[in-house]
Amino acid sequence: MNNSHNSRRPLAARRLAGVVAAAAAVSIALVSTANAATHAAPGTRPHPADTSLRALAEPTGLRIGVSINPDRLSDPAYAAIAGGQFSTVTPENQMKWDNIEPTQGTYHWAPAEKVVAFADAHGQKVRGHTLLWANQIPSWLTDDVGNGSITDAQLRTIVKKHVIDEVSHFRGKIWQWDVANEMFANSWDANPLPDGINGDEFWVQHLGEGIIADAFRWAHAADPHALLFYNDYNISGEDGTNAKADAVYAWAKKMRAEGVPIDGIGEQGHLDTQYGFSGDLERSDLQRYAGLGLKVAITEADVRTFVDSAATQVPTDSLAASAQSNEFSQELQACLEVRSCISFTVWDVDDADSWVPGTFAGEGAATLYDVNLKPKAQYTALQQTLQLAAGAPRR
Ligand code: G3I
Repeated sequence: MNNSHNSRRPLAARRLAGVVAAAAAVSIALVSTANAATHAAPGTRPHPADTSLRALAEPTGLRIGVSINPDRLSDPAYAAIAGGQFSTVTPENQMKWDNIEPTQGTYHWAPAEKVVAFADAHGQKVRGHTLLWANQIPSWLTDDVGNGSITDAQLRTIVKKHVIDEVSHFRGKIWQWDVANEMFANSWDANPLPDGINGDEFWVQHLGEGIIADAFRWAHAADPHALLFYNDYNISGEDGTNAKADAVYAWAKKMRAEGVPIDGIGEQGHLDTQYGFSGDLERSDLQRYAGLGLKVAITEADVRTFVDSAATQVPTDSLAASAQSNEFSQELQACLEVRSCISFTVWDVDDADSWVPGTFAGEGAATLYDVNLKPKAQYTALQQTLQLAAGAPRR
């Protein structure tokens, strides 16, 4: 979501048209379900009556999630998709520190609580996102660190309180916490530490890399039952060298050996059709993390491409839609093929809310639903992948 969000919001009438079209598609599917049930050859599986992503995923044991924006939940079409298609939700921004504590000492829990209540009402689990990240830190903190009025020793006390207060507030309500986010260096970062952690990362720079393990310890003390994840991008399948994935793997192994309470690795899964991606490499990287006794998850899947405009987000390349479907499907398949992969979350319900146009000029169309909340080919591709996976064993 960004400043141009409102201008890109679809008209209610156009949304409704999208919903009607989707409903028509569902009734066609139901008719073919009846036919399939009548004529199916012995041993074949009938087309299921409930073709939502969450229902199709259920036999596989995998949960399908989505990041949501609680401001959009008053739109019945948006809420129906968020509640009906997915079995986990992630608040896109509402659990980040700048939203939770905009003024020092004054907590603003309501928007995040709204997401938790929505999940509860729809039988969904919640991914908490995120406790320790260099972005979306409140300005009262960054300003005072910048001008020296918060010392590094004080900063440590402040971040400890932040982690403990937030995890305690939501104790028992969060399935997975992204405890630390994006701490490792990319190939273009200037100052990687010897183990691959980004030496220029805000928290590492001020408090040393040990702050990551400490954040896991504090979170565990505050909610011993929540699954605690390290979350990052380019850490399975997207990076040709696999160097970042190697570094995260070695670090996670060390954390496990030292008894740090880390339960999982989250691969964000942001893809772009202009770059290469290997579903095979993703699967083997996920499997490698799993080999450490960790759970894994795809936490922020989307596949962006070049589009006509930020308002309409129609792909400009005629091959884009099939490339996007293919990459979404490969990502889901990689997760399905690793038994320890417990959730596959897509980032944002629809293109109208996606972060992509605000960040990558000329790109968009990254989600499963278009700017009118109409399901795209990518959505069908995930349905198909899930249906085919239902009979296959997970390794
Ligand atoms: O809430 C303020 C509003 O008060 C202000 O008027 C407006 C002016 O720009 O900004 C609003 O904040 C925006 C915020 O989203 C909430 O809408 C920020 O500018 C905007 O930068 C922020 O973007 C979020 C981005 O993280 C920040 O880094 C995206 O919505 C969110 O999708 C994105 O999500 C991240 C994951 O957390 C971590 N992995 C990468 C992913 C994509 O960047």
